[in-house]
Amino acid sequence: MARLDVQETFHDILFPGHLHTQESLQRAVSFLFQDTDILIVSYPKSGTTWMQEIVTLMSHRGDAHINQTVPNWARAPWLEQFYSAAVLEASTSTHRVITTHLPHQLLGPALQGSKAKVIYVSRNPKDAVVSFYHFHKIANFLPEAGTFPEFLNKFLKGTLSYGSWFDHIKGWTSQMAVMDNFLHITYEEMLMDLPGAIRRLSSFLQCPLAEDEVKSCVQHCSFSSMKNNKMVNYTLIPENIMDHSKGSFMRKGKTGDWKNMFTEDQNQYFESVFRSKMQDCALEFVWELQ
Ligand code: A3P
Repeated sequence: MARLDVQETFHDILFPGHLHTQESLQRAVSFLFQDTDILIVSYPKSGTTWMQEIVTLMSHRGDAHINQTVPNWARAPWLEQFYSAAVLEASTSTHRVITTHLPHQLLGPALQGSKAKVIYVSRNPKDAVVSFYHFHKIANFLPEAGTFPEFLNKFLKGTLSYGSWFDHIKGWTSQMAVMDNFLHITYEEMLMDLPGAIRRLSSFLQCPLAEDEVKSCVQHCSFSSMKNNKMVNYTLIPENIMDHSKGSFMRKGKTGDWKNMFTEDQNQYFESVFRSKMQDCALEFVWELQ
């Protein structure tokens, strides 16, 4: 049987070969965006699936029918994954919702001059790396996670699949100053005040919602609703691809889980790498690194 965890290298970044081909990656970086497109951008494990759910719900004014009948990858496909071309071609939506984990250095040229609305979701990298580590244990299309210290080192070096978190956030958030169709929102903000985050998104997407519609969105994209929705909890993915006996995609849905995983030394090292890699970045982060 062919191995599932073979990775595809594209511009020095590894991508799971189970979902990506050279052709699909090449097609993504030369994609012709429409001005009406909504692009959700994130480094893995930063709240991507949550944002897909929120945007779908908002476009249907809080009605969860689509969310409960169509898998997230079919309503907000990952641009760089091999099946997205067919999904996008078949789309009849006036506002296509597209997802990507590609760094700005790869996708930026295709977006240049486009009025597509870009939603960048980021998360405290300490929580993202812990979530990614657990995800590696269930996703058979990703390489062996190894021990947590080994995994953390790869994260800090930027050698995990999908590349460097630091390059990702710096590349995309550099667009805040130059693109007026760009919104940066964090996992932490969504967790702290979901109705507020939905209102902010609704204003950015020019999709006004009545208060009861906001309430309905909040209810359907809560962690417990999503955990129980098989269109978004990835239990539709066969066992050989995601081993559901080893954990669930909707794992904890919290902030600060890194504290259960990092040793004091790892934390200190993380902080020093973070400081040095982010010194040229003027961003203020809502999450607390401490
Ligand atoms: P944890 O592993 O920390 O629980 P992505 O979709 O980018 O892969 O991110 C997955 C992470 O988002 C997982 O984090 C998952 O539990 C969390 N998540 C998904 N939906 C959520 C929700 N409605 N509320 C809070 N966290 C959510």
